[in-house]
Amino acid sequence: MSDSTVELTCTVNGQHVQLKLDPRESLLDVLRERLSLTGTKKGCDQGHCGACTALVDGRRVVSCLTPAVQVNRQAVTTIEGVADTDGSLHPLQQAFIDNDALQCGYCTPGQIISGIACIAEGHTDTDDEIREYLSGNICRCGAYPGIVAAVRQTADAARNGA
Ligand code: FES
Ligand code: FES
Repeated sequence: MSDSTVELTCTVNGQHVQLKLDPRESLLDVLRERLSLTGTKKGCDQGHCGACTALVDGRRVVSCLTPAVQVNRQAVTTIEGVADTDGSLHPLQQAFIDNDALQCGYCTPGQIISGIACIAEGHTDTDDEIREYLSGNICRCGAYPGIVAAVRQTADAARNGA
């Protein structure tokens, strides 16, 4: 590590994190290599696939292109942080199971994080809108019909107060 280390203070899934790091380190590498949160996947490492999607203060980012220092004093959420503290799955996680929305599962954490943001942003009026707002998340297995159905099911349930 060079002498030009910087300090990062943030929360990750509600836990306080304080680290010294190289300013070039990506949020993805900090999550995976420093914090052992390997649910966030490294696909392309170039901002093209969405496998590394995480939430920063509720907004989705591709963590491979996000310098970790940029999340200073912010709240990061990864797939490890979306289930309830009692262990029950997030409704979108359950909907992925219900709708068979995965095959190999590699893209799934990023899809779920992106889907949570898509629902919170209110971009779920039609299947086309869901597809458009999830278009940054690539699924090599082509599980898109199930993914869209899972997001629609969760958004509909939230709208109906379920
Ligand atoms: Fe970040 Fe592909 S690993 S977008
Ligand atoms: Fe395999 Fe999406 S389930 S890449």
